[in-house]
Amino acid sequence: MRLRRLLLTGAIGAAALVAIGGAAGAAQNSGATANQPTAAQNSASPGSLRSLAAQIGLRVGSAIIPQDIETPSYAAIAASQFSVVTPGNAMKWQVVEPTQGTFDWSQADQLVAFAQANHQLIRGHTLLWHNQLPDWLTTGVANGTISNAQLTNLLHQHITTEVSRYKGKIWQWDVANEFFTDTNPSTINPADFWVSHLGAGIIGQAFIWAHQADPHALLCYNDYNIAGEDGSNAKSDAAYAWLKQELAAGIPISCVGDQGHLDTQFGFSGQRMQQDLARYASLGLKVAITEADVRTFVNNATDQVPTDNLATFAQPEEFSQMMKACLAVRQCISFTVWGFTDADSWVPGFFTGEGYATIYDVKQQPKLAYTELQSDLQLAAQGAPFRTPTPVPGS
Ligand code: XIL
Repeated sequence: MRLRRLLLTGAIGAAALVAIGGAAGAAQNSGATANQPTAAQNSASPGSLRSLAAQIGLRVGSAIIPQDIETPSYAAIAASQFSVVTPGNAMKWQVVEPTQGTFDWSQADQLVAFAQANHQLIRGHTLLWHNQLPDWLTTGVANGTISNAQLTNLLHQHITTEVSRYKGKIWQWDVANEFFTDTNPSTINPADFWVSHLGAGIIGQAFIWAHQADPHALLCYNDYNIAGEDGSNAKSDAAYAWLKQELAAGIPISCVGDQGHLDTQFGFSGQRMQQDLARYASLGLKVAITEADVRTFVNNATDQVPTDNLATFAQPEEFSQMMKACLAVRQCISFTVWGFTDADSWVPGFFTGEGYATIYDVKQQPKLAYTELQSDLQLAAQGAPFRTPTPVPGS
């Protein structure tokens, strides 16, 4: 069971590569008031995820792609339910510099403008990752026209250019993404594109460059299965040890993002997630759930009806477990879903036969998972009212 989980999650990178190829010390918080609700978000829709979460200083977010906010009904949900936006692809290197030296910030700018217009913060995603790199870069490295020294300079330039462009506008940056192996024990992946060419030290270096470009942004290490999801906790152990080492060396890492991509066919312990989040927090880091979704097997990619009736209960339950793990750790500052409707989820395209992974269905109707998150937030914000006192025998 656990082995299958590791194999499957390990396949994410490969599947992503195929699909993409085929398609063409401490940074400081950005301000003491960053988590505080604005008047607009509290008055707009009182029962929304964002307004409930705002009451305890938590931000609830979604990954968004620009095409989606052109649909008014989608944009309305994106604006009213969420208080933080992650560009799902728009800030990745492949998108912002498709040709060397020629930049295209249009999609990123569009999402930044949307977020600002709706009083939302932004999670920048992602600066250093092995996937969704521009072809000119990977080809140049493969054919030897880009040396390792040039690769280092290009990365420095990329991070400086992008972080500077959005300086003061990004709340959290996912500086480094997915560097640990899915093996037990887990290590920094020696075969990773960046590590194999530049050594593992490049990860910490990326944080230093990002910090130089925007000293106030929270700088996160982001990965999947680093908060108890892999059963053995091997990946979390490795990430924890590495973070501790980097912090001791003065690397300006200020948060850890656990992606939270779950699948109902595997076991999951919210308690272990909570313990792992608390362990990162004990290092002085903020923590966040950054890409939550819970997939399951479905009839087809269009309707996304679970093939197992019980999955309709397991799916919201696992969302709720993740939310509770976050709620239980004060340093958990945001809970982000990786797309909010099944219609635009990445899951059907990347996991054969699976879907139903988000909190709204294919017709943009809230599912049980939405209601679960809402009631978790309601309890967190308002608590359960104390029971009405009654006389008891003998009193
Ligand atoms: C995914 C996007 O959602 C897809 O549209 C894209 O084709 C591939 O990448 N982990 C991450 C995200 O950190 O950037 C990935 O997003 C999903 C897995």
